[in-house]
Amino acid sequence: SNISYIMRKTKFGHLEHIWFGERMPVGADVDSLVLKHSVTAGGTVNYDESDETYSLDLLTLEWTSAGKGDFRVLPFELVMPDGSRVCDFVFEQAEQGVGLVPLIGLPQAHDLSAERNHALVEEISGGSDDNACDDRDNATDVNPEHLIITMRDRVYDIRIKLIYTLWSECDVITRRVELINDSDSAVEIRRLMSFMLDLADRRFVLTSLHGSWIREGQRQETVLPVGIVSSGSTTGNSSHRHNPAFAIAERSADEMHGRVYGFNLIYSGNHIKFVEKSEFGLVRLMSGINPDGFCWHLAAGEKFAAPEAVLTFSDQGYNGMSHNLHRFVHDHIIPPAWRGRERPILANSWEAYYFNFNQSKLLRLAKQAASLGIELLVLDDGWFGKRNDDRSGLGDYNINTRKLPSGLSGLATKINNMGLQFGLWFEPEMISPDSDLYRAHPEYAVQVPGRDPSLGRHQLVLDLCQPEVRDYIVESVGKILDEVAISYVKWDMNRHMSDVFSVVLKEQGEFYHRYIIGLYEVLERIFKPRPDVLLESCASGGNRFDLGMLCFSPQIWTSDNIDPIERLTIQGGMSLFYPLSTMGSHVADSPHSQTLRHTTLATRFHLAAFGCLGYEFNLNFLNRLQRKEIAEQIEFYKKHRRTFQFGRFYRLPPAKDNKIHWQVVAEDGRESIAGYYQTWQRAAEGCDLLPLTGLDPRQTYRLSTRPLRLELERFGGLINHMLPVQIKPDNPLLRLTGKFYTLPDSAESYTATGRQLQVGVMLNTHYSGTGYNSNVRMLGDFGSHMYLIEAIIDKQSNQEDAQ
Ligand code: DGJ
Repeated sequence: SNISYIMRKTKFGHLEHIWFGERMPVGADVDSLVLKHSVTAGGTVNYDESDETYSLDLLTLEWTSAGKGDFRVLPFELVMPDGSRVCDFVFEQAEQGVGLVPLIGLPQAHDLSAERNHALVEEISGGSDDNACDDRDNATDVNPEHLIITMRDRVYDIRIKLIYTLWSECDVITRRVELINDSDSAVEIRRLMSFMLDLADRRFVLTSLHGSWIREGQRQETVLPVGIVSSGSTTGNSSHRHNPAFAIAERSADEMHGRVYGFNLIYSGNHIKFVEKSEFGLVRLMSGINPDGFCWHLAAGEKFAAPEAVLTFSDQGYNGMSHNLHRFVHDHIIPPAWRGRERPILANSWEAYYFNFNQSKLLRLAKQAASLGIELLVLDDGWFGKRNDDRSGLGDYNINTRKLPSGLSGLATKINNMGLQFGLWFEPEMISPDSDLYRAHPEYAVQVPGRDPSLGRHQLVLDLCQPEVRDYIVESVGKILDEVAISYVKWDMNRHMSDVFSVVLKEQGEFYHRYIIGLYEVLERIFKPRPDVLLESCASGGNRFDLGMLCFSPQIWTSDNIDPIERLTIQGGMSLFYPLSTMGSHVADSPHSQTLRHTTLATRFHLAAFGCLGYEFNLNFLNRLQRKEIAEQIEFYKKHRRTFQFGRFYRLPPAKDNKIHWQVVAEDGRESIAGYYQTWQRAAEGCDLLPLTGLDPRQTYRLSTRPLRLELERFGGLINHMLPVQIKPDNPLLRLTGKFYTLPDSAESYTATGRQLQVGVMLNTHYSGTGYNSNVRMLGDFGSHMYLIEAIIDKQSNQEDAQ
């Protein structure tokens, strides 16, 4: 709706990229936008002697040729039938149409209107499912339009199809490439990127997400140097090291303003991005399957499809880019049955018990969970085989009846009877050398014959290139899903790949890609017939957080790091490209098992609420006040769950560098919730401003602090300054009092129009070392507040005021 993408055919048949950015009038003269070449540049190769100003190295292109004078990192490398790498693609034809161009074997953005048509056909034929997707009727989508451009090599019958799909309501274009070999010899594909985009440099900054286990989603900004900036994964999954998503923006852009381009890939395997700035100031971007270790044999008559890439542009800063991508993920990536469907609040057994659980412990956890308002109990790792640690059992599906005497069905029934849904953890892509499956089928494991394999977390990977292995997983997981009342699955994957080799492949360079195709097939076969099972994918946390997995799993376990202060960076980074509803986000115990940091229960909730909320610690250890606090958190979350999960999310520019501000605004704009987080306490900081955005300037709102109570224990000996008698800080009486009595934290309330609120709210004084009263905001290190903003007066009555 708000962007234009313009290209044209050159006189030699190449495709010149002219514009991607703000919407331009259709049919207008684009000459002012075109890169000029009035004279030859020294040191270039002329494409054709008839025009010495025409060099592929100087053009902005939609697709390029190899070995014809374009010296960038090329988006493809083909070993041609003549053994050379030279190949010159020129325009053959363009077809425009409506609807999707199907992508076989890989996930692609889906079109709800197609789903609606399908439902209609089923309805007409009498097979409609009334519960299928409540949101379908409200879907505003129009059929996406597509454009297929075919480019043909000048010598061989080898074609490239550039496939563009337009998602107008999200300002997103998806792009991909297919290579078709109609020659009579095989072609070897050494590299085939999903897209390339050439832009004239505008002092661009590259934003990308990097990290490691328990440190995913770290936002990194690089002012583009001349040369190549590249990152990707070689681990067999999209990886926590370098997420496939990235952005480039003009240097002046910030969260709220400026021109920002966003990119992502609908793919979960080895990927790479290249951002190259040429010596002539041309910026060339591309991403796709990582060519490292990749080699695909394309026989005569075959075609190869690269994964779909996602491109967007916004002139409303990084938040604008995020909003386009969030909407796109909500509407066109996550499975249609979960579009706009609220996610349950869960309790997970992992950080409560790790492997050390049994039925009665789980039932005690479930009982507590149910009494607090939690809706789903998830049994994590350790329910099968001899799995009492991470050294055995993966690949086996026999239930450990010593731990679970009533079996999974019995346990699920007992949990259901408490009013909770039941969820189960699986790690289906793995095999432990100490497992019945390995003893029976060592050939199912990924390893090179004659070479000792290296293990990761003491386990091997199952070879998903083999059809028997895929069948084994589909049948084993499917059987449990059919026999047990399971409404949620956590699908884990806990190692990087090594020793890759498949007994069924002739060309081992195809392994990684065929593995991922196999994984998608398995997920499709298990979950397509069971659309109401909520799938949360996980790979040691966010080691496979990508759009490919989101096509099957509406949410992903963002990180094994549940410390809220760490999650500010992790979820804040991820939110650039992925909406809140895709992020599993829990309240854990404090001190945190990943950092030993102490945080308050309030801060843990204030962070976890910006995502799909869960609780992951032993709820039986809570005291009465903590139970009350959690019950209130859950009540609050349930009341505002739609806003938290599906509202419009903003990262707000912090007024100070020890503060972080998040805000989410409901779809209808009538309520909003702001999170105010303090990393380190500073002495005598002075006044504090709560920045807000996204509100209707004419609407009147009431802003109020979510009420908090302060635990006495936090204040140690300082508490004596408030008491009529002196008590030692470690006095058992004080500890006992702390179990029953808390202090109120400052609660503020303002009535104001959106216009007033958006200039920022002057908050009550921050604690400054001069005493406590109930109007002082008591934050301390890692403190936080949450503010609820609700529309109270209809905007019509404010019109006069606005004038
Ligand atoms: C890694 C996951 O990220 C954790 O949440 C947990 O499920 C463990 N695996 C279980 O082994």
